[in-house]
Order: sequence, then structure tokens, then C-alpha cells
Amino acid sequence: MSQSRILSGMRPTGKLHLGHYHGVLKNWVELQDTHECFFFVADWHALTTHYEAPDTMGEHVWDMVIDWLAAGVDPEKASCFVQSCVPEHAELHLLLSMITPLGWLERVPSFKDQQAKLKDKDLSTYGFLGYPLLQSADILMYRAEGVPVGEDQVPHVELTREIARRFNHMFGRGKLFDQAVDAALGKMGKKAKNSFSRLRQTYLQDGADSAYQQALLLLTEQQNISAQDKDDLKAYIADKGRIILPEPDALLTKSAKMPGLDGQKMSKSYNNTIALRDDPVRVEKALRGMPTDPARVRRTDPGDPKKCPVWSLHQTYTDQKTHEWVKRECPIAGIGCVDCKQPLIDTVLAEQKLIRERAEPYVKDKVQLIQVIKQGNERARTVAQETMARVRDSVGTRYDEL
Ligand code: TRP
Ligand code: SF4
Repeated sequence: MSQSRILSGMRPTGKLHLGHYHGVLKNWVELQDTHECFFFVADWHALTTHYEAPDTMGEHVWDMVIDWLAAGVDPEKASCFVQSCVPEHAELHLLLSMITPLGWLERVPSFKDQQAKLKDKDLSTYGFLGYPLLQSADILMYRAEGVPVGEDQVPHVELTREIARRFNHMFGRGKLFDQAVDAALGKMGKKAKNSFSRLRQTYLQDGADSAYQQALLLLTEQQNISAQDKDDLKAYIADKGRIILPEPDALLTKSAKMPGLDGQKMSKSYNNTIALRDDPVRVEKALRGMPTDPARVRRTDPGDPKKCPVWSLHQTYTDQKTHEWVKRECPIAGIGCVDCKQPLIDTVLAEQKLIRERAEPYVKDKVQLIQVIKQGNERARTVAQETMARVRDSVGTRYDEL
């Protein structure tokens, strides 16, 4: 359980494609073996731009979570949940909004970019401006250390760090913190407490780093104090405030250079995708129809893989030997494009077969899918409630009497 925590989310856009798989999902699947992972469906984020499509939301959520599981996300290792099933996200978003300067949100690049891009939608809403702050709440809720995201999301993680810093600065000191420190010190034995205070004094007065290390060591030896107490006392040694919401790091996901069926970047808006669980007959036909180096009009025309989107797919899918074969034979017209595509088609279909097999139990039996999400929701809520207890405590909205 001392594994560091990872959180990431996706808006429910429905069925995912191979670009998502090689870009994002394979990365998630790797992380789940080494980290405590939370992956969630950002349905409220979807509403910030697609508030007019309530009918399709549910279907999109199911399809997307099935795709996660099909890609190899293991519900025993990673918790998959739905944002709106953990309403604490909304509360944290609201509380953070109290201390978020409007300018911080207005200068997030995606704000103006998306407004310009989605011109047919009215995005001059309160909710849309708050998009990155809601994302900050998502992240800070789990006190996540790492947030795997694509490049476009890095400014959002950056904002999250700034918000966390501001929140800790505003609420990490003061009467509540002093009381918490006193209470924690009170739980230590008299002797330990005295040495601790002496070490702290030495550290602060003389800048003796060794005293800091010794004080930390002393803390780790204490049996009676909680992890929160330890964190508070650690901050107290250095005369710092409490870290209520730790600052996360963005874990930049390398973008998979996955061309779509027309050679442009694979994207739903270009209508050029291969879905993760696409029909094999369609996939084969689509790959056979893919454009190649335009110079190869006839079988005897030499080609250049660098000018060919099929070659880009080979990079992701086929092995070194195949690459060499293509690089050697294409420029001398030793192979035709039909030959060249065959090993690619075989590998894609083999991969998709596995993916479809992993999806099958959930497609057949929705109850199983629901179980996975319910379990994820519960695990998420447990952490969220812990965080919110600390946050409410910090901002003063805690009324044990009520
Ligand atoms: N904004 C993200 C995207 O569009 C989705 C998202 C919402 C997210 N909350 C998050 C990603 C928290 C990482 C962490 O891809
Ligand atoms: Fe592209 Fe392969 Fe045809 Fe060369 S042989 S143009 S790499 S599909």
C-alpha cells in the first residue's frame, strides 16, 4: 500500500480506437503493476462541452470502460470509477473555486483554444471556464503523485499544482494546525517529545541538517501517532505549514504516432479510426483500402516508406525483420503494397482478437461490468471521503455537532 498513487481520467467519448490503445491505455496497463491506480470516467467534464447530449452518456460510459478492461486494465489492480458517482469531486471543486483567481482559469490555453475550435457551441459558460479546476479537484482528491496525461493536458496539471500550493499556503497554518501539532506531540512519550523539540530547535536555529534527519527518524519510531500526525510534525520541524493537498506530477504519455485510415492522425473527428473492438472483416477491408505512397500508382513503381501512412502503422505493429523487408523491397518495387500490408493486417487482427476476447464477458453480461464500476466507485469514495474530511477541517466547514 505504500505504492505511490496514480490517477487519470477520460471523457466518455464512446468506443475507443487504436490511437487511444497505443497512446494511453497500454501505459495505464503498465502502471497498474507498479502503482495504486485510479482510472475514471470524467462524465462531468463531458457535460462542460456536450451538455446537450444526455441520451448517449450512459452508452458511452459502458463502451469506454469495456474498452479499458479489454485493453488489459485489471479491476483487481486498478480501480475504475465514474466521476459523478463520487460527488465529493463536486464539493472539492466548489471549495477550490473560492480561492481560484479568475485570471488563472482564463489563461489556461485550452480555454480559448476550445472556444475557438468548437465555434458552433456556446462555451462562454461558468462550467466550461471551470473545466481545469474540476480536473484539479479530480486529481487532488486522490492525493495522487502522478497523473499520466498527454501533452495537451500538461497545463491542467500545472494549474493543479498551483492550486494545491495556494490551498496549502492558505489553510495549512493557523489555529487548526497548531492544535493538531499539539495533539500529536501529546501522543508521544515525554522523553521522545523533549528530544524532538530539542532537535527541531537545533535544526531551525543552527540549520543543522543532521538534526532534521534525527527528528524524522524519531518520528518513524513513534508507535502512537498516525500518518497524518507524522506529516504534520514533519512540516512542523521545518516550520512549514501542513500539506493538505500534495502537488502532483504530470507523467507525460508519449503520443503514439498512429495514422488513421486516410493517413491523417487517427481521430474520431476525421472519421478515420479503427475501433479497439472493430469487426475484423471491416478492419481488414479498411487496411487494404488504405492509401500508400502516392508515387506507387502501378505495382512496378518504386515507393518511399517515409511517404506512406502504412509504413507508420508498421512502426507500431510489426517486427524489425518486417521493417527491414519493407525498407529494402518497397523502393525497388520488389513487393507490392498488397504484400506489404499483409503482415500488418495479420498483427492488427491478432491483437484485436485478444482485445475482443477480454471484452467478451462484459459485453455478454453487463452485471459483471457494473460490478467492476461499483467496486471502483466504492474504493474511490473511501479515499475521497478521507480527503474531504481533511479539507473541510482545513476550510472550517466541519461541524461535528451536526
Ligand atoms: N481533461 C482530460 C482529457 O480531456 C480528462 C480528465 C478529467 C482528466 N479529469 C482528469 C485526466 C484528471 C487526468 C486527470 O483528457
Ligand atoms: Fe507503403 Fe508498403 Fe506500399 Fe511501400 S510497399 S508504399 S511502404 S504500403
